[in-house]
Amino acid sequence: MDDLIFLGIESSCDDTAAAVVTGDRRILSSVVSSQTDLHADFGGVVPEIAARAHAERLDLAVEQALAEAGLGLDALSGIAVTAGPGLIGGVMAGVMCAKGLAAGTGLPLVGVNHLAGHALTPRLTDGVDFPYLMLLVSGGHCQFLRVEGPDDFTRLGGTIDDAPGEAFDKIAKLLALPQPGGPHVEAEAAQGDPHRIPLPRPLLDRPGCDMSFSGLKTAVLRQRDALIADQGGLRAADRRDLCAAFQTAVAEVLAEKSRRALAGSPAPVLAVAGGVAANRQIRAALEAVAGAAGARFLAPPLRLCTDNGAMIAWAGIERFRMGHRDGLDLSARPRWPLDRRAAPMLGSGKKGAKA
Ligand code: KG4
Ligand code: ZN
Repeated sequence: MDDLIFLGIESSCDDTAAAVVTGDRRILSSVVSSQTDLHADFGGVVPEIAARAHAERLDLAVEQALAEAGLGLDALSGIAVTAGPGLIGGVMAGVMCAKGLAAGTGLPLVGVNHLAGHALTPRLTDGVDFPYLMLLVSGGHCQFLRVEGPDDFTRLGGTIDDAPGEAFDKIAKLLALPQPGGPHVEAEAAQGDPHRIPLPRPLLDRPGCDMSFSGLKTAVLRQRDALIADQGGLRAADRRDLCAAFQTAVAEVLAEKSRRALAGSPAPVLAVAGGVAANRQIRAALEAVAGAAGARFLAPPLRLCTDNGAMIAWAGIERFRMGHRDGLDLSARPRWPLDRRAAPMLGSGKKGAKA
C-alpha cells in the first residue's frame, strides 16, 4: 500500500492549495496560493471573493502541483479533497474540481475533513503512532483533540468564542499593527514588559480544557483606552507592553489547558498545528508543559502547520487505507465536527464556521 500517490486539494478558507504526497510520507510537491492580498482591504476573509478566487486558481494549483511532482494524472492512486468544514463557496469549488478530475480519470475520490488534515499532520511529518494529543491553534480553529486513529478523534475542549490567531489579529488592529497580526504582535512583545499591564486569564478558574479569548481582547482594548485617556496618546513602549501582556496571557492559558489535557488524557506526544504554533513564547510554554508530563513535543514545519494540500492528500491516504471512498455525490459541508460525540461548538470565527 506504500506505493500510493495522492493529489490533495484544499480551498476551505483563503489559501488555494494542491499537493502530491506518497503513502511512504514523501511530499512530492505542495503548492499554496495565498489570497491575503485580495482580502487585505476588508479586515477579514470575504467569502464570495474567496470562492471566486479558488474557482479561478484551483486548476492552476493542481497543474503546478503535478508539474512540480513530475507526474501526470495517470500516476495517481486517488484524489483527496477538503469537503468541510469551512467557507462553503470555497469548499464547493474544491469539491467540484476534485469531482471533475475523478470523473474524467476514473480515480477514487476521498472527501477529507479539513481539521483531520491538520490533526493527522504529525503522522505525515514524523510518522508518530496513535494515540497522541493535538492542539490546533490557528486563525479559525482552537481545540484539543485526542487522536486514536485516522477517523477517531475525541475533542477534549476548545475555544468557546474567538480562536487565538483571531485574537492576535484583533489586537494588532487595536494597536494599528499590520495584518495578519500574529507575527507583528510577537515582534512588539519581544521588547515589552509582560508584567506592567494586568490582563485576565480567561476560564482558568473553571475546570476542563475549554478556552475563551474574546474577553482578553476586550481587556486589551480597555487598557489601551485607559492609557490614551491618561496620557493623551499611546507611546511605543505602551504598545510593546500591551503586546507582551497579551501574548503572555495567551501562552499561559494555552499551557495550563494543555497541562490539564495531558493530565486527563495521557499521551506520549503533544503535537501542535496552526499558524499560532509559530509563536516562540507559546511554543516554548507548550514544550515545557509536554516535558513536565513526560510527553514528546512536536511542531511540524510552519508550511505544514498552516493550511496546505499535503495534509489533505495525507489524510486522504489514511482514509483510503481504511477502505473509505466517496462517490460523485460527495457534498461540501460548512460544518463538520471531527468528534461526532462532542456537543456542537458555539460561535463562528473570522475565517468561517468553527467545527
Ligand atoms: O493556520 P493559519 O495560517 O490559518 C488558519 O487560520 O487556518 O493561521 C493564521 C493565524 C493568523 O491569525 C495569524 O495572526 C496567526 O495564525 N499567527 C500567529 C503568528 N504567526 C501567525 N500568531 C501568533 N504568533 C505568531 N508568530
Ligand atoms: Zn486550517
